[in-house]
Amino acid sequence: MIGLIVLVVLCGGVSAGSHSLRYFLTAMTPIPGLPQFVAVGYVDEAQFVMYDSERRELIPRRSWMEEREGPENWERKKQLVRGEEQWMKDYIQILLTRTNQSVGIHMIQQMTGCDLGDDGITSGFFQYAWDGEDFINFDRDQMVWVTPVQWGEITKNKWDQDTPRNQGVKGYLEGECIEWLRKYLEYGERELRAGE
Ligand SMILES: *[C@@H]1O[C@H](CO)[C@@H](O)[C@H](O)[C@H]1NC(C)=O
Repeated sequence: MIGLIVLVVLCGGVSAGSHSLRYFLTAMTPIPGLPQFVAVGYVDEAQFVMYDSERRELIPRRSWMEEREGPENWERKKQLVRGEEQWMKDYIQILLTRTNQSVGIHMIQQMTGCDLGDDGITSGFFQYAWDGEDFINFDRDQMVWVTPVQWGEITKNKWDQDTPRNQGVKGYLEGECIEWLRKYLEYGERELRAGE
C-alpha cells in the first residue's frame, strides 16, 4: 500500500500508463559561485541523476540508479555528459558571435527526451534553446533541424548535412531512449515493491 502511494506521488499528475524520460543540460557564461554547466535527468516527475561542472561526476538521486546501471554504462554516460559540457561551453562563444552579443549573462540549454504512452505509442524530442528561447530543434520524421530564428540558419544548414549524427539522434529517440525509460521504470518499481 505504501508502495502504491509513493508511486502515485512519483508519477504526480501523469496518467498511470504514460511515462517520460527527460534530460536538461544548461551551460552559462561564468557567474561567480555558480557551476557553469548543470545536467539533470528525470523519469516522470522524479529527478534520478545530476551532474555539474564543479564535481564533474554523475550523482545518483535515486538509489536504483548507480547500482543497477553497472559500471560500464555509468562510465559511458559520464563521458557523454562531459563531452556535451565541453561542446555547449564552446558553442556559447559561437552563438555570442552569431547573435552579436558580447557582454552579460547568456545560456544555452539542451532538452531531450522521449515519451511512452499507455497505448505503446512513443515520441521524442531533441532541442536547444538560447537565452531561454527556442533556438533549434530536431524534426525526427524529416531528419532535419528547424530554427525559428534567422541567425540559426547557419547551424541548421551545417547540421542538416551531418547525416550520421542525425541518424544517431533519431535512433536514440526512437530506440535507446525508450529502452532506458522502460529499464528505469522497472528499477524504480522493484525498489518500491522491496520497500513495502
Ligand atoms: C549582427 O550584425 C550584423 C552586421 O551588423 C548584421 O548583419 C546581423 O543581422 C546581426 N545579427 C543579429 C542576430 O542581430
